[in-house]
Formats: sequence, C-alpha cells, structure tokens
Amino acid sequence: MNSNRIGLGDFRANDKTYRLVNSVLDSGRISYGPLSRQLEEEFSFLHSCEYGVLSNSGTSSLQVALQAMKEIHRWEDGDEVIVPAVTFVATANIVLHNRMKPVFVDVDRDTYNIDPRQIDAAVTGRTRAIIPVHLFGQPANMTYISSIAHSRGLKTIEDSCECVLATHFMDTVGSLGDIGCFSFYMAHILTAGVGGIATCNDPKYASKMRSLVNHGRDGIYISIDDGKKEEAMSRRFRFESVGHSFRITELEAALALAQIEDLAYMVARRQENAEFLSNHLVMLEDEIQLPYTESGNSHSFMMYPIVMKNGNKWDLCRHLEDSGIETREMLPLINQPVYMDMIDTGKFPVAEWINRNGFYIGCHQGLTFDDMYKVAEVILDYFGAL
Ligand SMILES: Cc1ncc(COP(=O)(O)O)c(C=O)c1O
Repeated sequence: MNSNRIGLGDFRANDKTYRLVNSVLDSGRISYGPLSRQLEEEFSFLHSCEYGVLSNSGTSSLQVALQAMKEIHRWEDGDEVIVPAVTFVATANIVLHNRMKPVFVDVDRDTYNIDPRQIDAAVTGRTRAIIPVHLFGQPANMTYISSIAHSRGLKTIEDSCECVLATHFMDTVGSLGDIGCFSFYMAHILTAGVGGIATCNDPKYASKMRSLVNHGRDGIYISIDDGKKEEAMSRRFRFESVGHSFRITELEAALALAQIEDLAYMVARRQENAEFLSNHLVMLEDEIQLPYTESGNSHSFMMYPIVMKNGNKWDLCRHLEDSGIETREMLPLINQPVYMDMIDTGKFPVAEWINRNGFYIGCHQGLTFDDMYKVAEVILDYFGAL
C-alpha cells in the first residue's frame, strides 16, 4: 500500500504505461487509433469473443448494446427488459434511456446475483431481454439464465462491469450471453479512469454498436483511417441511427493496454486476498455473511461483500472507516428515489435485506496479506472476538 488507507481500488503506472502514453503523445494521434484497436482485439480475445467495441464507459457500452438489439430486432418502446433488483443504477438506467421498461427480479441470498429461479415468472409477452449482472466479480448463473432465454426467445446482455476473466463452467464472462459489457472506471479491476467495452461474436451487433458510439455513423467511416477508402468520401457524413458521442481516446487505451498482460495476476491476487480474509473471519459466520462462490464459477473479486446478520451495519462501517478501511453500500437500487415509484415494497425481500445490511470493502491486488490481516483484526475487534 502506498498510503495507510485500505481503499477500494488501485491504479499503478508501470514502465509500459509511460511508454504507451508517451507513444500516443509523440504520435499526435489521440483519437481512436492503433492502441484502441489493439485493446479491442486483446480484451475480446481474452474473453473468448471475436469482436470488441470500445466506448467511454461501461454505461455507454450497455446503452449501445441494448440499443443495437432494439434496432436490429425491431423491438418497441415499452418492451420489457429483466434486470436484478441489486445492481449499480446504470444497469436499469440504460433500459429507461432506451425507452424500454425495466422489470426487476430479486437476487440470490448467497451470491447476490439475479435469482434465476424467479426469472420465468417475470417474463411476459413483451419481455425481450435479460441483463444479468456479474455482481462484485462473480458470474451470474448463465447456464440457467441462457436456458430460460433460449426457451422464451429472449436476448441476454451480460453486465460484466464488475467482472473480468471470471469463468462459469470454464466459459469466460463476456462470451456467456449475446453481448457482454465491461467498465474501465476507477476502482474497477482494469482501470483507465474511464472507458468501457462491449464484446460479442455476432458481427451485426458489433457493427451496429460501433456505429452507435460514433453518432450512428455509416460503418464505412468510423475513424480517420477510413477516409482513405474510395466510397468513404461520399458516406462519411451519413448517419443511420440516432447515435451518441461515446468515443474513447488513445490515452485511455494506452492506460488499459499497459495492464492487460497483468490482468490474470491481478485477479489471482484478489482471489488470494479474499480467501485470506474469509479464512480469518470464518469464526464470525453467525454475525456476518462472507462471500460465497457458486460451484462452477471463478470469482474475480472486484470487491469483498459482507452482509451483517445481526446488528447495525453503519456501526461496523464507522468502525472500519475510523480504522482507515474504506467501505461502500452494497449497490442499493430499489430504494433509490428515482426508482422507488416503480417498485412494490415487500416484493424483493433479499434485495431489501441486502440494502439494510450489506456493504463492501476492497481486496484488490495493491493490498498485501498484512493489509487484509488488519481488516480481519478490525472486524474481529468489533465483534469482541480478538
Ligand atoms: C454493475 C455495474 N454496471 C454498470 C456500471 C457503469 O460503469 P461506468 O461507471 O463505467 O459507466 C458499473 C459501474 O460502477 C457497475 O458496477
């Protein structure tokens, strides 16, 4: 640790970071270019996908993923999309931004991911897609979700903004549904400050998303390099969809590319830190619920979630914060002022339990076992178990 604070995320520049960032500055080419293309290729390859489309955030990637599907499959305004009742607001916001209706489904009490057993009952004649979220770094149960999607004719968009490289029965997140969306925002596993990428194996989705992040522009002209093509002259100011200005620069691509070969190591260190902490807290299992990795999954531990079984979480969070350990609420959604009117109280008991009692702390690769030991000691001390 650089500081004494045990925080939620970590970004460190290495030699490669300086080399790549300087190469961008020296080249004078800061818009979408060779490094952005390389990042798309390497990231999508790591996630078993043929295509990767960069954007300026995970939210933008989700936005264009759903919009691409809506345009290609001619879905209508007001059609429904199933989302989990515990996630970051962006997952549900992009459904509304696409003029569709989010239908919430409660989450599983152990994994905190969407409860697949409750999805079927939420499907109606207007349901078009499911957006499972790989919350805190663990894949949702995509075996179950994909079988419902296939039998009901629905599309799936993985919100993998909190997850990289994790596997579900050996298949990698990002390739488990029709499109996968990742975030490079601060405190995420691979961070470039901002940024996002959508991965898929369907060229129709990839080219529509690439157009949508570029104002809905004709796919023949996506970057300045395309201007050399003969037909591009007449088509570079042709717009086929109502798109967005969601582009990223070569500088973010340089920051992300510099970390990509260390990504597996970063995830492995997070897993080790999480396991170390759980081993030291296991005696408190009557007091707090520790993270649980479902059989068939690997977990990339963007953070370490804890749910209080007894007592007031704010007292424990204050105790942790006072000891220099950063905490956050566990992604409450259905009690947000913006969503409260759409939610029937009592319909999502597990989400409500998590909202009342859940929080998370960091277990990232920049933390040592000494740091994790300190976290364990502070929690044990709180429960008088030291
Ligand atoms: C589950 C989830 N979805 C979407 C997002 C949005 O990503 P971004 O902040 O890059 O827009 C986040 C970001 O924290 C997230 O945790």
